[in-house]
Amino acid sequence: MTPAPRHFLQLSDFSRDELDYLFARTGWIKERFKRYELYQPLRDRTLAMVFEKASTRTRVSFEAGMNQLGGIAINLNRGDTQLSRGEPIEDVARVISRMVDVVMIRTFEQSIIERFAAHSRVPVINGLTNEYHPCQILADMYTYIEHRGSLSGRTVAWIGDANNVCYTWLQAAAVFDFRVHVSGPAGYRLEPTRIAGADRAHFAEFDDPMEACRGADLVTTDVWTSMGYEAENEARKAAFADFMVDAPMMQMAHPDALFMHCLPAHRGEEVAADVIDGPQSVVWDEAENRMHAQKALLEFLVCGRVEVA
Ligand code: CP
Ligand code: NVA
Repeated sequence: MTPAPRHFLQLSDFSRDELDYLFARTGWIKERFKRYELYQPLRDRTLAMVFEKASTRTRVSFEAGMNQLGGIAINLNRGDTQLSRGEPIEDVARVISRMVDVVMIRTFEQSIIERFAAHSRVPVINGLTNEYHPCQILADMYTYIEHRGSLSGRTVAWIGDANNVCYTWLQAAAVFDFRVHVSGPAGYRLEPTRIAGADRAHFAEFDDPMEACRGADLVTTDVWTSMGYEAENEARKAAFADFMVDAPMMQMAHPDALFMHCLPAHRGEEVAADVIDGPQSVVWDEAENRMHAQKALLEFLVCGRVEVA
């Protein structure tokens, strides 16, 4: 019997050792890319990308990355597929995974991607669900490492909505032994059921965002209204008004602190323009690193570990 494929549905699906390996490969792959050296371990391989939500970075980084690795990527927007006419996700998984080597999905509930993976013959990658965004945090951690070294023992301040990106940071903190300070308005904080049993050594909640930023090594935020929650937009704008990451918040952080945002950003809402466009911001490196980190992930899922030179 063929062994079950490995999937990347949540950051915690991979061990610390595997994630460290991916970071090492990301660096190697990025260096070769910067030197314009061909590296094509995925020749004749195909990635299918299923998008049930909009995307700029995820789409371009996976498609460009797959092409650079020698393979091809097929883009499937929900509206153009039979998913929009009610084809069960299990059937879509069975069919697509007989034709391609790896699948990336951006969808709504985590349960959808889990059902897809359960019926897939090939590895499945989470390209964002309502619950998690593991590819983003791979790139974010790699970006921190590039600029400042290991995150272990550091403090990350998460200001704003306790959303998919925030929960993925919490998973990363447990794996890499750092701390996340979470601060958002009432009604948009961490859900007790999702943090029940989580090790409190790795996160703490703050009513005051300034206190959450105190001494932080990294300050990060995200949109107030994630995809799928648009109907709540006006209520959210009012609730989050005091949670814009601005210069006074950055001044509370460590002098060497970085600012990150997974993008797309709304200047004047979750982040002030002088922060995202300021000297502590590494958002463009962060966006670029999506591609390098995901190339390492694709290589690992399709080829397994390769000898590191
Ligand atoms: N950060 C991120 O996933 O961006 P996209 O929605 O543009 O893919
Ligand atoms: N939290 C955002 C991230 C977008 C990349 C969303 O889910 O819409």
